[in-house]
Amino acid sequence: MKKQIHLNGFIQNSPSPHSTGLWKHEKDQGTSHNNLAYWIEAAKTLERGKFDAMFIADVLGTYSVYENSHDAAVRGAVQLPAHDPLIPISAMAAATEHLGFAPTISTTYAQPYSLARQLSTLDHLTGGRVAWNVVTSYLESEAVNLGLTGRLSKELRYNRADEFLQVVYKLWEHSWENDAVVYDQENDTFADPERVHSINHEGEFFSVPGPHLVEPSPQRTPVLFQAGSSPKGRDFAAKHAEAVFTKNHSLDGLKLYTSDIRRRAGEQGRNPAELLIFPMILPIIGSTEEEAYAKYEELTNHVSYEGTASLLSGHTGIDFSQFDPDQYIEDIETDAMQGNLDMYGKDPNKKWTLREAIKNHGLGNGTVKFIGTPEQIADEIERWAIEGDADGFNIAQAYSPGTFTEFVDHVVPELQKRGIYRTEYEGSTLRENMFGRGRKHLPDHHPAKKLAPVHL
Ligand SMILES: Cc1cc2nc3c(=O)[nH]c(=O)nc-3n(C[C@H](O)[C@H](O)[C@H](O)COP(=O)(O)O)c2cc1C
Repeated sequence: MKKQIHLNGFIQNSPSPHSTGLWKHEKDQGTSHNNLAYWIEAAKTLERGKFDAMFIADVLGTYSVYENSHDAAVRGAVQLPAHDPLIPISAMAAATEHLGFAPTISTTYAQPYSLARQLSTLDHLTGGRVAWNVVTSYLESEAVNLGLTGRLSKELRYNRADEFLQVVYKLWEHSWENDAVVYDQENDTFADPERVHSINHEGEFFSVPGPHLVEPSPQRTPVLFQAGSSPKGRDFAAKHAEAVFTKNHSLDGLKLYTSDIRRRAGEQGRNPAELLIFPMILPIIGSTEEEAYAKYEELTNHVSYEGTASLLSGHTGIDFSQFDPDQYIEDIETDAMQGNLDMYGKDPNKKWTLREAIKNHGLGNGTVKFIGTPEQIADEIERWAIEGDADGFNIAQAYSPGTFTEFVDHVVPELQKRGIYRTEYEGSTLRENMFGRGRKHLPDHHPAKKLAPVHL
């Protein structure tokens, strides 16, 4: 059997998600993100295309590194307004049967006890279709609005995230035994207190006695996604994540990433092949190659220069209003998103000026664009999956949800024809669709399973 690929649809509860300025495009409906009909249409489209999940990005602050102000982000709708990623999920789950949902939540600002409750509740309501994109957050504006005086260092953010996960693992995996809920009417017992345990977590960042507030959900721990790119972030992903998102603009960049992250997973005692890797791509589809490139030019004309400069400044933590547009972007370290800076500062194939980087970053947050006919795009997908060792792709949008619709209508049938993509979902939960039927729960090699039982 040929290598099978997986797909996720990338979206955010904001106008023109991930393509800055595309809210102006006649085909964009992203400005309807405050309307349930928009979400339901997007979810049904992804399910029609047999996607694993809808991945919902999120930030908790404004992009205000550029000119030390949020004005450019407000003007350009740069991930702003930023509505909550969790709220639309129940409605989408009611309109679909198989599609998973991967909201983004920050370990730097959430509390493990309440977050565990929210995701367990959603895992129940969706019948086991929930994932969590674990992020540590990179914007200063998030920190100062959420009780801190400034952004924590990356070291501290990942240390806190590591302990955060220990707490939620204890709540999800170890607090309620499988048969704790007994529904014993004769003995007036709903659940057996002997089988519902406190977790008594005491650590550097959290003190959580428990027990968990929710009985075991279909998957217990939601599927864990992560996207770290710094060495610390990659180690964190290699330890905890079941799937990782990455953003590259070349196959060479992807190859370096996949070999590095699988090596790190092996060093953590995990099966490196079971860490699924999803590079992000922006498909630009035409009925001929010429038509596709003309469409690319037309989309680029909608990109907002100032809005994208503000996005890139927020992603990298560097105020690019201070730079000459023809200045090269250097290889430096940042406490914001290292991967976004490395795309331009560490590209082995090219030195990037700020102007070029901004043009590139405006569509699909700077990720690689697959431009061409459905057959050409399927060729690239196969090449990246095989040569780049990718397990699937995270599909970004130029206009929303139209990019999803075009991909599902034109590229998905081509992938299916080649025998590299499912025609039916494999299981009932998201984890089963990603890892195979019967795999509802975390595997034994995962660190959540290795924690000592809390009741001994
Ligand atoms: C495809 C992709 C999507 C991401 N989505 C989010 C997001 O929604 N919210 C967020 O705070 N960070 C997001 N990130 C950032 C990562 O969580 C991570 O912080 C970033 O890649 C930098 O890695 P580092 O923290 O190891 O430097 C995303 C990254 C990638 C590659």
